[in-house]
Amino acid sequence: MSSINQVVSQINQARLWERHERLAEIGATGRGGVNRQALSKEEILARKQLREWGSVIGLVPYSDAIGNFFLRYPGENGDLAPVVTGSHIDTQPTGGRFDGSFGVLAALEVIEAMHATGYRPHRSVELVAWTNEEGSRFAPGMMGSAVFRGQRELDAMLAIRDSDGVSVGESVAAIRSAESEVCERPLGFSLAAYIEAHIEQGPILELQRKVIGVVSGIQGKRVFRVTVDGEENHAGTSPRAMRKDALVAAVNMIGALHDAIYDSEDVVKFTVGRFEVRPNAPSVVPAAVHFSIDLRHPDDAVLQRLGDRIEPVCTQHQGPCTVAVKELSNDPALEFPVAVRDTIRAIAKDLSISYLDMPSAAGHDARHINYLCPTGMIFIPCEGGISHNEAESCEAEHLFEGARVLAGTVMRLAEMT
Ligand code: GLV
Ligand code: MN
Ligand code: MN
Repeated sequence: MSSINQVVSQINQARLWERHERLAEIGATGRGGVNRQALSKEEILARKQLREWGSVIGLVPYSDAIGNFFLRYPGENGDLAPVVTGSHIDTQPTGGRFDGSFGVLAALEVIEAMHATGYRPHRSVELVAWTNEEGSRFAPGMMGSAVFRGQRELDAMLAIRDSDGVSVGESVAAIRSAESEVCERPLGFSLAAYIEAHIEQGPILELQRKVIGVVSGIQGKRVFRVTVDGEENHAGTSPRAMRKDALVAAVNMIGALHDAIYDSEDVVKFTVGRFEVRPNAPSVVPAAVHFSIDLRHPDDAVLQRLGDRIEPVCTQHQGPCTVAVKELSNDPALEFPVAVRDTIRAIAKDLSISYLDMPSAAGHDARHINYLCPTGMIFIPCEGGISHNEAESCEAEHLFEGARVLAGTVMRLAEMT
């Protein structure tokens, strides 16, 4: 029996499922979902649980200056760049139990299986949980992987504050003091390869009745924050001509953007997911509105053209108010290297698991790590394609099959000389 088959045979479906259930208790919403914000006390507890699981098999934990978390399974040649696999454990406020957690727990399961057979890869294998993938508490998202890549400045990210005024820097310091035994390591160390397993977060695998998505690439995404400034006034007395109603202006902008960006083919994705009104009082003309725009498209030229229309359309509909459009991120569409996709596909074939080549419509940390080393992603189905929702659900068998394909892929890559 080959070492891949031996290790794959040790992937344990019950353990993998139970660990998802256990992790989902940390930040459980009470409605089946999870609210575990980046760098929160819940995330500290989840990381403690990962360290406890890892310590049973001797894994050494590390963290870096933006709080990315690693568990290392040493290879025969500890000086060589490791193969890294994982995802994130922060969630949306009404998040599910599998988004991100699956990639991290599948990575742990792969290492457990290697350990159980006594298999030592040529290169070390490391689990990673990247900091703040979701961008829900602190914007922008994919912060840990972007800083690791060097695409974002560490100091600028540490200065970002949540809606309560707490900074990323203060929160990373809190995590570090709760993890005094965790060794610090530099940002951006060399990686031999990166593989991220993730739920699809869309309906395609389920509709096509396939178990594994061999991810070809990730569609592009631009994120904006729009600030509309008006003036508070009395709701009963101020005449229309005197009003600077920031809410009316913002609604007009969003309606106009929706029309300008509308795509009958439904390829363009345009979302205003956050909308804040000040002072948000029934009898006061709204003085200010902040809203977010998340714009995505697989064709970079289209993404750039549509994103560039946002500011002029907002300005055109500002009325008596003023508007400022700030771009928070602009990540082009990308393709993962063919060799990594071929490896994932070959492993799925060898294990007789059905697969489909498909792009990722959602964003992932693999987007940033792709620029540092050969990178790939493995998808599994999620029920009804529902994600960023407390009802997010997956089948235990699909988690298991995904972890088996991950194990084979990581082993192939960890044998690279
Ligand atoms: C990731 O969470 C995304 O929003 O694509
Ligand atoms: Mn995710
Ligand atoms: Mn997510």
